[in-house]
Amino acid sequence: MANEAILNAWLYGGECKSNLPKPARPLHFVLLGAPGVGKGTQAEFLSKKYGAVQLSTGDVFRAIKNMPAETLSPAMKEAMEAMKAGKLVSDDTVISIVKERRGCLASGYGFLLDGFPRTVYQAEALKTLLGELNIKLDGVLNYALDTEEVVKRLSGRRTCKQCKTTFHVIFNPPKVEGVCDKCGGELFQREDDRPEAIRVRLQTYEESTAPLAKYYEKEGLLITISAEGSPEEVFNRTEKILKERLGI
Ligand code: AP5
Ligand code: MG
Repeated sequence: MANEAILNAWLYGGECKSNLPKPARPLHFVLLGAPGVGKGTQAEFLSKKYGAVQLSTGDVFRAIKNMPAETLSPAMKEAMEAMKAGKLVSDDTVISIVKERRGCLASGYGFLLDGFPRTVYQAEALKTLLGELNIKLDGVLNYALDTEEVVKRLSGRRTCKQCKTTFHVIFNPPKVEGVCDKCGGELFQREDDRPEAIRVRLQTYEESTAPLAKYYEKEGLLITISAEGSPEEVFNRTEKILKERLGI
């Protein structure tokens, strides 16, 4: 079960506390991979099995976006514009948001950092922060998939307005078109899943985020996993690799 209390503190700020029992061995992973490769989808499976909480910086920005415009700082407004266009939010803004939420990194439940870090500069900042919190990363799960397939996954994605569950019009359609299976909420297409923004996101990924694989390879943390096949197949592959590499 997702740890709603930690998740809410991550999205909306506040103290990161939960009453759920803590895992004996909290796991700390970074999820890496192109936009649309399936990081969020795999995070759900991983979270269910290992208890670690999915902490997505993209979800934080989407939560902020729903706040009244007059309450947003100039840096936040700039971040919203960058996101809409498919560009990266500035390193300083992202890093300060993660630092404000450091309690969620050190909650004792473990984490699946999804979408952060996205540049080598952010990776250095994370390393320093985790050093201060005395936390060691268990690994960096780098999901790999052909660009053509990634574009198909992104352009067919639909997200629930209420509970944020994702569907896909072809690969994982809801039972009733436009309606969430889980909560009955309305499904929408993310602004950055439109063709112009997808192009920019993929280019940005190649330029700024792909070099992170090399960075984490040097750190001895990189675990590259093929994201081909159904979500269940990708997860089975992930479980097998984690068992072999980390004995979990
Ligand atoms: P973010 O929210 O992190 O988006 P992203 O990295 O672009 O990744 P996505 O969420 O689009 O894809 P995903 O890999 O999670 O795929 P999913 O599981 O949904 O970031 C958004 C924006 O925020 C950035 O562009 C930037 O502006 C800003 N931002 C965030 N963090 C930042 C940072 N650190 N620095 C700077 N800026 C930052 O799957 C996609 C679809 O495919 C779904 O429809 C799903 O149902 C389907 N699917 C999944 N797996 C499979 C499968 N195996 N087979 C078939 N279909 C599948
Ligand atoms: Mg995602």
